[in-house]
Amino acid sequence: MKNPFPAAYEAPSRRAFLKSSTLAAAAVALRGSSLAHAAAQADATIDILPDEPIATISPEIYSHFIEHLGGVIYDGVWVGEDSRIPNVNGIRKAFLDTMREVKAPVIRWPGGCFADSYDWRDGIGPRNKRPARSGFWNQQDTNQYGLHEFMHTCRAIGAKPYIAADLRSLPARDFYQEIEYCNAPAGPVLSNSAAPAVPNALAAERAANGDVEPFDVDLWGVGNESWGCGGNLTPEEYAAIFRRFTAWTPGYGKPNRFVAVGPNGDDVAWTRRLFESLHNNPERPHLWGLSVHYYTSGSATKFAAGDALKFSNDEYYDLLTRGSLMERVVTDHWTAMEPYNRNHAVKLVVDEWGAWYGKGTELAPEYNLSQQSTMRDALLTGITLDIFQRHADKVAVAAVAQSINCIHSLMLAQGDKFTVTPTFHVFRMYTPHQGAQSIRADFSAPSIPNPLAIDSSPVGGNSTNGSVRVSDKLAGLSGSASIAPTGNGKLLTLTVVNPHLDRPLTTDIAVRRAAISSAKGTVLAGHDIHDHNTFADPNAVRPTDAKTSAPTNGRLTHTFPPASVTTLEITLA
Ligand code: AHR
Repeated sequence: MKNPFPAAYEAPSRRAFLKSSTLAAAAVALRGSSLAHAAAQADATIDILPDEPIATISPEIYSHFIEHLGGVIYDGVWVGEDSRIPNVNGIRKAFLDTMREVKAPVIRWPGGCFADSYDWRDGIGPRNKRPARSGFWNQQDTNQYGLHEFMHTCRAIGAKPYIAADLRSLPARDFYQEIEYCNAPAGPVLSNSAAPAVPNALAAERAANGDVEPFDVDLWGVGNESWGCGGNLTPEEYAAIFRRFTAWTPGYGKPNRFVAVGPNGDDVAWTRRLFESLHNNPERPHLWGLSVHYYTSGSATKFAAGDALKFSNDEYYDLLTRGSLMERVVTDHWTAMEPYNRNHAVKLVVDEWGAWYGKGTELAPEYNLSQQSTMRDALLTGITLDIFQRHADKVAVAAVAQSINCIHSLMLAQGDKFTVTPTFHVFRMYTPHQGAQSIRADFSAPSIPNPLAIDSSPVGGNSTNGSVRVSDKLAGLSGSASIAPTGNGKLLTLTVVNPHLDRPLTTDIAVRRAAISSAKGTVLAGHDIHDHNTFADPNAVRPTDAKTSAPTNGRLTHTFPPASVTTLEITLA
């Protein structure tokens, strides 16, 4: 099928591009005329600099988020033990298998906004005795899926749990007792007395509920969006509560990683005021990470609007441009933290991100916030993961919102129907980066004008709040590179997004002080940017082998197809 959309812009000619390209000029100076010749044949260049390491890529930037919202938990994750849908102890088997395929390292739960009115005690004990309660999203929750079911989900996947605690409606005592219930050791424990060792009461309750061994949860979100649904607090008010919640908690010999509620989008005032409040008090702030939420709306002028499936070329470029602002969000907050974070011990935790559209493509009315995902979302996924990797020194954890039946999902499920989305494929294609060393890579390509750029585009989540200035240009080619030891050398992974709708980019790829000996790859490129998977056609979008050529003089020439995401696995000589 041919792309039905006409060219959205007049791309500069190759000659004009190379004339203006500082990289091409630098190539002449640095590498001599033969290298400049190779670059001159290309539409774009990528220079990989292994001697400029950034940091180890935390596998946890590939994390996930599941909330008691619409069809995420009930139907998406939890189908129940008696269901005819294939399941493992009540958990949808396809969900577990898919999360394993993308090596999901961490799962955040139970919200989101839901977390701040959730009592963890409602979700423990015999299922038939658990209370049904009204939950945040105007939905009654039967509590059939609770703490133990969540831990079993994580264990089955091999992921770590990340629990968002209720800060708005429960006292600090419930928070530290939740930690105690999760982490207190099994069996008798010595007390500070001559009395014989006895079991910890909460550990005994956990054991009675089926799990003798501790859950070992170390990652704790202290509230969620406290500037919005989590309490409508000021940064100073939140800082005081954060201190009270974290001043003492049981540790059992292992440190807890506490994540404070951070800003909405690019709201650096929140970050500055929060850090000022936390650090004006000389007492330790107990802070490990700062949560950041940045969603890209389907519309430049309205939050959570725009159609997931129907969009113009201009809207496509504009959405990717606004998604690319994640880079500014990361660097702006990092800079705002800097005066209080000179040793860079506190990291960024981007625990909600994704493209958020308006209503129209939900699975059914009760699947609140579910939406379809197209190739456009696959490109946004690649752009976002590449940003996290380029800033591996700053971003320690990131969680896509949300893994199934929600905003920027990897999976859609309804009863016995199931499909992965194009976003899933990008997560899978990027797995070689997990735990590798991020290295600098310079990309040069003709940029794309964003005709819908505006000074103030609304940004938010459920509690919409704030705006960002939108750039008038989208990078014509972007990506990231990492290097990891293998059995017999080093594997260099290069991931690349070509957002041009109508232009394949023939690219000269060089590695500084090294020669490329071979390359293979995978590419995700639809026939049309609107392509998506459905229950009836779950393989409409899927990756194929990338057509690589043999390197010449240690360099690779590769053509990145229009509107594509590519992973190249490069072997160095
Ligand atoms: O992911 C959906 C909602 O978006 C979350 O509950 C909330 O934290 C954000 O506003």
